[in-house]
Amino acid sequence: MKIAVLPGDGIGKEVVPIAVDVLRTMLPEAEYVYVDVGHERFTREGKAMTNEDIETIKKCDCILFGAITSPPKKCYRSVILTLRQALDMYANVRPFKSCSISPYKVDFTIYRENCEDLYCGMEDVSDDQVLSTRKITRHASERIARKACGHPGLEMLTIVHKANVLRSCELFRDVCIDIAKKAGVPYEEMLVDAMAYNLIRNPSRFDVIVTTNLFGDILSDEAAALIGGLGLSPSANIGDRYALFEPVHGSAPDIAGKGIANPIAAVLSAKMLLEWSGHRAKAEFVQGAVDRTISNGILTPDMGGKFKTEDVGLSIVKHLESQ
Ligand code: NAI
Ligand code: MG
Repeated sequence: MKIAVLPGDGIGKEVVPIAVDVLRTMLPEAEYVYVDVGHERFTREGKAMTNEDIETIKKCDCILFGAITSPPKKCYRSVILTLRQALDMYANVRPFKSCSISPYKVDFTIYRENCEDLYCGMEDVSDDQVLSTRKITRHASERIARKACGHPGLEMLTIVHKANVLRSCELFRDVCIDIAKKAGVPYEEMLVDAMAYNLIRNPSRFDVIVTTNLFGDILSDEAAALIGGLGLSPSANIGDRYALFEPVHGSAPDIAGKGIANPIAAVLSAKMLLEWSGHRAKAEFVQGAVDRTISNGILTPDMGGKFKTEDVGLSIVKHLESQ
């Protein structure tokens, strides 16, 4: 297997090496292809990612991604958005599962549509007005709904939208209900504002959530807070051909360079890579090593600990090697 490794910017460069150590322990035969993309490269060379980079990435089976800084600049388009669209990775799968020290007991997964909505880049900009187009298609809604309905062990699908106000959401909602009915999946629907509320009020009631791109982006940071922070939240961007695995968090400039970023979200993203590539038992080993590291109190400051990124990484790899 050939894995493209894109550490990116800020703490991406600090947490991805830990995830690679984990993968090298679990998949010693895999080939790792490093590609330098992101805002730091943009500042240096005027390009965040080239077409050749995309071609190199396309020659790999999957991608391990860190995080990229995306300052609001006219001439700069986010690398991760470009990759999601160029490689048609339409399902953003974000599991939120409590660990022993999480503030809430939850176990749910958000399926976020990943290629359209307000993120499709259609913006009509003038000095006094900006029109950002929200694109929702039947095709994209169908395929994210199908992915969510196929979630292993699904008990209840919550379809999140704002169809009382937006016609685009009405299409998304109708398609999701149609697919859920055809799949024989129990479903409910919830307006996104009520969802934001209920996620705090009663988070353990949720199982599988399907929603549009922007709503999924916002709700997943909220969900991360329920399990103990962005440092614990992994994700997978899945298409029919390619898949990219990345922590939910960004490049965290406030802590970058201090060696204190929590690498667990990146390591659990590597776990999702192992699951996706059919190495289920190895994926469970990784989960076990993370759980043991947490219960031994080897924690970074975001989780109330005093340890460094490197210490957490060494502990996880040590547990993997002793299994
Ligand atoms: P962020 O996710 O980078 O950070 C939010 C807060 O969580 C910060 O206080 C940070 O220190 C903390 N945090 C995040 N990950 C952590 C970790 N692993 N360990 C400990 N603490 C952690 O979001 P922010 O600050 O809004 O964005 C920073 C930059 O990242 C922006 O340029 C943004 O565009 C970009 N970004 C990139 C993403 C990506 O590449 N997929 C996703 C989200 C943001
Ligand atoms: Mg986000």
